[in-house]
Amino acid sequence: MCGIVGYLGKRNAYPVLIKGLKRLEYRGYDSAGVALITDNGDLQVYKTKGKVADLETYVEDKDISGSVGIAHTRWATHGEPNTTNAHPHISNSGNLAIIHNGIIENYASLKEGLIAKGVEFKSNTDTEVLVQLIEYIRLKRNTDLLTAVRMALHQVIGAYAIALLDKNNPDEIIAARKSSPLVVGIGEQEFFLGSDASPIIEYTNKVVYLEDKDIAVINRNRTDVEFVNINNEKMDHEVKEIDLNLDQIEKGGFPHFMLKEIFEQPKCLADCMRGRVNVEANNVVLSAVIDHRKEIINARRFIIVACGTSWHASLIGKQLIESICQIPVEVEYASEFRYSNPVIDSRDVVIAISQSGETADTLAAVELAKERGSFIYGICNAIGSSIPRATNTGSYIHVGPEIGVASTKAFTGQVTVLTMLALAIGKARGTIAYDDYVQLVQELNAIPEKMKKVLELNEHIREISRVFTYAHNFLYLGRGYNYPVALEGALKLKEISYIHAEGYPAAEMKHGPIALIDEEMPVVVVATHNPLYDKLMSNIQEIKARKGRVIAIVTEGDEKVKNLADEFIELPQTLECLEPLLATIPLQLLAYHIAICKGKDVDQPRNLAKSVTVE
Ligand code: G6P
Repeated sequence: MCGIVGYLGKRNAYPVLIKGLKRLEYRGYDSAGVALITDNGDLQVYKTKGKVADLETYVEDKDISGSVGIAHTRWATHGEPNTTNAHPHISNSGNLAIIHNGIIENYASLKEGLIAKGVEFKSNTDTEVLVQLIEYIRLKRNTDLLTAVRMALHQVIGAYAIALLDKNNPDEIIAARKSSPLVVGIGEQEFFLGSDASPIIEYTNKVVYLEDKDIAVINRNRTDVEFVNINNEKMDHEVKEIDLNLDQIEKGGFPHFMLKEIFEQPKCLADCMRGRVNVEANNVVLSAVIDHRKEIINARRFIIVACGTSWHASLIGKQLIESICQIPVEVEYASEFRYSNPVIDSRDVVIAISQSGETADTLAAVELAKERGSFIYGICNAIGSSIPRATNTGSYIHVGPEIGVASTKAFTGQVTVLTMLALAIGKARGTIAYDDYVQLVQELNAIPEKMKKVLELNEHIREISRVFTYAHNFLYLGRGYNYPVALEGALKLKEISYIHAEGYPAAEMKHGPIALIDEEMPVVVVATHNPLYDKLMSNIQEIKARKGRVIAIVTEGDEKVKNLADEFIELPQTLECLEPLLATIPLQLLAYHIAICKGKDVDQPRNLAKSVTVE
């Protein structure tokens, strides 16, 4: 949450910063701001409530010269989203400007202490406390900026990625991180900063990911970046070459990132399986399972920790691993797990699932599991992000950057990795019959082509969605592997159309939600041809008996459900445990089209952020 960009070099900083903010806007978009040291040596701060486009309008007649600057797009934590609380924040002397992503948890006591010493505050943010504290220390101790930053960070409890400009030193930016992500890009006589690499890759593929408690001193007169920790010990960091291209983070002709990402899924899953699923040899290979065979194959239990959509993927992973590997699996919300007192030890394997690899709760759950001696396996998308770096091993989902705030391709990528993981472990443990294994490998490999057939239904789903824009509530039902699909479908609708929606295991409907059903109530039922089909038929009958309106997701050729349902969407036949990979797509499209019909901003839904790096 919150996006940070910085530039120091030979170009005009402002256009680089604005473009960077647009790439990071998925992280938050309550307000935006930029600080520049202009050609005449002024420190200019421009900020406004609203999106980056509003900031562009605001600066139209302003001085945007200068080759050094920092910029920020905000997802409010402390203080309402208004112009005063927008970043950058400046110190009372007007010399220092700061941008910050994270939360300073002890800001209230720090602020009280500073107020008692006569420091005045303009905003309600935790961030302003930091810049005032740094300035106070610098003046009081008559010290240089780096020392003041180090001393201030020693006093801070919480999470931060910060960048700091000093009006009197236009050749330098100081940046630091703890628990919130920060990347430095190193070009030819120019440097870039970003909350992730997306604002940087247009200019250079050479990056350094800051580690916790790192401070980076970026100076115009050096070719490299100096890294120290908060104790002033020099840190050596490898410069990495990242393999990302611009096409991956642009819309590619689609009106929204979300739609582009939904349509990318066949290709993403093929990428995810490349080099792992070998149909000729009828084999699935995951290097993590080969390298850490002992810990993984002999696990007493798996505990999967995740949030949001990744948590829904985890519920499918539980069913896959339990049925294929015969190992018990627990699924926990990372936010609950981190504050629990879990009974885990070195015999347990904790799987952390996170698209961004930066979710604060999931990262904290990983740290707790590590302390208790468990082996940690990460399933993430963002390469080099914090969670994969904190785990013992893992598998990237390799679906490319996901920009739309509502997660789509990451979900199917996570389910695909979980399927491959279950197959690799099941085979090694001998808990899956060879014929079943071969059939699953072949069918998994066929999923991208089947997904393409589902995507051909886009227009049909758009038509259906028009009918249901009136609804204030939706119910989603599924059973077995499709129960988490129902949860995910409901989440998608809530996130982007702001329609209240609940996902339920279909049989539970009669224990409560059935009371909600009347002629107004749309009920999405995933009723594919699997062993629970007859049970679902009864559930549909129960809904129709109460005049509910059924949108059924059925298997191609099904006549029974089609005759009962008000609307139906047909999926190609596949194995039961792979159905979520197909059944999720129409629910993503349904949510997308309903939100579009209602005129909502699907890529930047209100109050949400793509990557939740605060508690
Ligand atoms: C936020 C996003 C969700 C995402 C969740 C977990 O709430 O809006 O789309 O599922 O975080 O994120 P992660 O990056 O850990 O998968």
